[in-house]
Amino acid sequence: MDSEKNVSRRAVLCGLAVLTLGLIPENAIAASGVKVLANGKVVVNLSKNPALKKVGGVVQFTNNKGIDIALVRTGKGVKAFRALNLACTHQGYPLRLEGDKWVCDNHLANFSLAGAVTKGPAESNLQNIPLKATKKKITVG
Ligand code: FES
Repeated sequence: MDSEKNVSRRAVLCGLAVLTLGLIPENAIAASGVKVLANGKVVVNLSKNPALKKVGGVVQFTNNKGIDIALVRTGKGVKAFRALNLACTHQGYPLRLEGDKWVCDNHLANFSLAGAVTKGPAESNLQNIPLKATKKKITVG
């Protein structure tokens, strides 16, 4: 009887673990093939970042000034990318990706994947960092 309870309890705990893991949002992937140029611009090689092949794909990196940046694919076109400064526009707290939105854990502001503010207290969209896109690489900065 005790072993049946243990098995049953174990089965429930395993089930909860599986459910919990299934609910954990997909995190942005650290960018690979990133090169920082002497002028501080960052070159992201697209062939080394398969996450950016699909619309909504995101990779993250930090530039030489310590700014955390998300590179987001916003459409199918070659130039459909945004580079976002991942500092919350309310008080600068670092954002994290939760599903398809950016969330600030400081006062719970939300931003769309492309950086538009969707929930206060932040009032402005995320800062866009200029970029140049080609079929092979994105140069940010
Ligand atoms: S610092 Fe992000 S909501 Fe306040």
